[in-house]
Order: sequence, then structure tokens, then C-alpha cells
Amino acid sequence: MGSTTGWHEDAVIYSLDVKTFNDSDGDGWGDFQGLIDRLGYLDELGVDCLWVRPFFPSPLRDNGYDVADYYGVDSRLGSLGDVREFVERAHDRGIRVLTDMVFNHTSTDHEWFQRARRDPNSKYHDYYLWTEHPEEAYSHPNIFPDHEDGVWTYDEVAGKYYYHQFYGHQPDLNIANPAVREEIHDVLRFWLDIGVDGFRIDAAHPMMHPKGHNAISVAEGMGIFEEMKRVVREQKEDAILLAEADDQPDQLDEYFAGGEGFDMLFDFVTNQHLVYAVAVKDMWPLYRANELLPDVSGVGQWANFLRNHDEFNLLKLPHEAFEHAREFFGDDEGDSWIFGRGHRLRLADLYAGDHDRIAMAHSLMFSIRGSPVILAGDEIGMGSDLSLDERESVRTPMQWSDGTNAGFSTADPEACYNPVIDEGAFSYREINVADQLNDPDSLLERIKRLIDARTMCTEIGHGDYHIVDVEPKEVFVHRMDHRNTVLMAAHNSATEPRTVTASFEVPPAAATDIVGPGEYEMADGEITFELDACDYVWVRGDKRGERVPLGEP
Ligand code: NOJ
Repeated sequence: MGSTTGWHEDAVIYSLDVKTFNDSDGDGWGDFQGLIDRLGYLDELGVDCLWVRPFFPSPLRDNGYDVADYYGVDSRLGSLGDVREFVERAHDRGIRVLTDMVFNHTSTDHEWFQRARRDPNSKYHDYYLWTEHPEEAYSHPNIFPDHEDGVWTYDEVAGKYYYHQFYGHQPDLNIANPAVREEIHDVLRFWLDIGVDGFRIDAAHPMMHPKGHNAISVAEGMGIFEEMKRVVREQKEDAILLAEADDQPDQLDEYFAGGEGFDMLFDFVTNQHLVYAVAVKDMWPLYRANELLPDVSGVGQWANFLRNHDEFNLLKLPHEAFEHAREFFGDDEGDSWIFGRGHRLRLADLYAGDHDRIAMAHSLMFSIRGSPVILAGDEIGMGSDLSLDERESVRTPMQWSDGTNAGFSTADPEACYNPVIDEGAFSYREINVADQLNDPDSLLERIKRLIDARTMCTEIGHGDYHIVDVEPKEVFVHRMDHRNTVLMAAHNSATEPRTVTASFEVPPAAATDIVGPGEYEMADGEITFELDACDYVWVRGDKRGERVPLGEP
């Protein structure tokens, strides 16, 4: 089976929530028809794949990660027919679709849980994990410590306690039960049949944790994920599985199971180190991240990201940097700190709205090994709204224009799923797509050029990643070697110009300037980068001195 060559290795992925993307019917909630209406924008942006966050019927106590029915669509967002149409329209444009799948837990509203709690003899009872003696049961801290005291909650109806690693309304599924795994497989088949191209598997790490009263562990190793991969591949040859597994670095290669498990894994380690490095203008964390991570070439692909729709988790930083980042990124009121581990801020907040720094961080994320994942709105520099509850701060509607509700919806602002940001430097009047489109200096146009560059340079998805040790450490230089070609990139995080030299065996005539405002000169087997503040530049060349076409894997 293996997963060493596939479309995902050169994909630029865009993460969006239908609820906050675009509202077509004026009820204040984004919907699939609205998303279809914006496919032209996404196509022009140049992304290859959309990761669509949960859209299933749900009480929305965790933004839809509390699923009440795996086979339906929240009626405010559309119908199954709308999803099918959306997938077809996306495919017409050559854009693939991944959907989020949450199998670690369901909502307490899910029919399985409702039946489970009512009837201990029902087969559904064993879909979940119960105890009558929580004091004797296996226990550990809850993943949402600001909200939950532990992992056992008493259920009045069942007359016992059920196990949940996340919120109390999210009972964990007993994945060790083969009947549950069958259910999971059926759900995967159903959505593949609708046409999707793969899945982002939520909370893959907690799925693997020991669970329940006796700390039951699922089958040896990553058996459940290999099973899922087989099911998915049987139905669609090039469908992929992307894991959200914020596990310890030395555990990460297990998720790939030598090519038989996940195809891709979010790289939380690089995420935290990269965003921190660019902010503190010192690139040492990128060296550290590279040392911590296993080499997964040949078995799988990293999914790189700068921010996601959750908190900016800092736990992978070394202790001193963790403490520093907590202070450094903190907002004045301290409102941004959450769960004892991160900030509920967007990238633009972390970089004080500096578009040059935001573009540079994207350039880094796009040029290191792996496939990039953009969070909707980061391409224009959207900010957060800390007056909203918890992680909703980073989930405000997409800012399309300076019109009503930022062009997201024609509804009464009160009716919108979340309010648009209408104050300060990140207000939709200041930050919106319409203003940035076709302005060559805008963040949006710079990100478009980076997407283009990533698509052309197959060295990044397939090559070997090497850091080139240069001084000063405000500058980061790395190269990706693939067959006879090499891509070298330089990034300057300093607020002053910097010049660095590295050896580069490509003859000047065989080098191509790919992207970036930065400048360079080549002579005598060396390349000298001349970079203004926040400049970046990518140079590609053939080591044999030939001119090779771009875009060939
Ligand atoms: C990870 C998701 O990204 C997050 O939003 C959610 O709260 C948890 N998993 C639980 O499903």
C-alpha cells in the first residue's frame, strides 16, 4: 500500500469552517452553497485541497467536534445534496476535499449514547466506557482542564460514570470494541461515496490512549489506523488520512506505521518552534525542531501549519521558551491564555499585524519539507476577538469586503454565527479580501505567489531537507535536494538588513529566482543573500548545470 507518492505530497491545503466562510441565504450562518460561490476565490488563490471542518448535526458545544450524527449535515449549513454538489464543483476545478472525522468521542446527543445510557444490555452500551467506581477507575487530567475536573462524569440516566478525555458532553468511544470500529469504517465509506478525497482524523493521539475503567488499550501499535487506511484505500485508491496527533516527537513515526498508517501528520513541533522563532527573531528553534523530529521520508508526509482553529499550543517548546512565549505573546489583560498551554490568538495577533513578518513565516512554512496548511483568513492577516468565548476568538467570519458583516452575510449582525471583527486594526474595514485582491504588495497577493512557488517546486514535497548553518541566527537558510535539483531558501527575521553567504554548487546560469523580495548573488560556488528586514527568497537550480523545467516531481 505505502504512502510515499501521492497528490498530498505536493498539495497546498486550506482549512475552513463552513459556518463562518460564506452565507448564501442570509441567515447568518455560512453554508455549502456559500462555499460553492467562493470556489473561484480558492481556485485563484491556488490551493489544491480544502480541509472542511465538522459540518454534521451537532449541539455545537465544541464547534461541531461534538458530533450527533455522522451521516448528516447541520441543516443550517445545507443538505447532503449540497455537500455532494460542493465536492463535485471543487473537483471540477481540480481541488480535492478532506473532511474532519471525530472518532475519539461523540456528542452525548448522539443516538448511540442515548441508547447506551438507557439500556445496559443494548449493544450501544459497550460503545462507551463506564464505571460505577470512579475512585478505583483509571484516571488522568482532562484535556480541557479549564472546564473539566477529570475524565469521569456521572450520568443520571445510566446511573454510572462515563469516560471522556475532552468535555463532559463528549463521551469517548470504546474503540477497542470491534463493533465501534465497524461503525467507523461504515462512516468512512459513506463519505467516500459522497466523493471526498480523504479525512482529517481528529484527536488521533487520544484515540490511542488507554481508556476507561481498566485503561483498555486498542490493539497493538497503530492497528486501528491501519485498518482505517485499508478501508479507505479499498474504496478510493488515492484517498488519504491526515492525523491530528500532538504526541511526543519520538512517538510520531508510529502514526505512519511504515507507510501502512496515516499518510500525513500535522507537525505541531515545527509549528510552535517556527512561529516562536520568527517572532523572537532568532532561528535556533528551527534547528531544535529538526533534531526532535523523526525522519519520515519514504513513509509519510508532514502537514505544516502556522495556526489552526484551536489555541496556539506552546507545550512542545523547551521550558524557558514556553514561559517566555507565554509572556511574549500575551495580551495586556491576560485574556488570551487558555488551558495552561497556549494563546487563543491568530497569527496576525502574534505578529502585531506585521504583514511582512506574516508573509515571511508563510514562506518558511511553505518551503520546508512537508505540505502547507493555511488557516482561512490568515492569507489576509485576520485577527482574533478575545471577547468571544474560549477558542471561538479565532473563529470569526471570513472578511470578504468592507460591506455589511464583512461581506460574509446579509443577515442582521446579531444573527451571525459569530460576530465579524469590526474594531481596531483587524476590523473588516481594514483587513478584507476585496482590498487586497490585485494589489501586488498585499499579503494576499504575496501568499498567492508563495502558493504558486510551492506548486512549482516539487523538491519541497519529495526532497531531503537540510539546514545550512549560517550566522547570524536571525537568518535561516535551508535547502531541499531532490535528484539533480536543489531549492535553497533564505529568510531574515531581523528588523534590519542582513547578508549571509553559503556554498551553492549550482552554476549561476542554471539557477532560477523562484519567489521573494530578497536578493542574492552567486559566484565561485557560493551564494550571498542580501535580505532586508523580513525578506525571503527561494532559488532553484540544477546541480549539473542544466536548465530543468519547474513542476516535475
Ligand atoms: C481537536 C479539534 O481541533 C478541537 O477543536 C476539538 O475541540 C478537539 N479535537 C476535540 O474534538
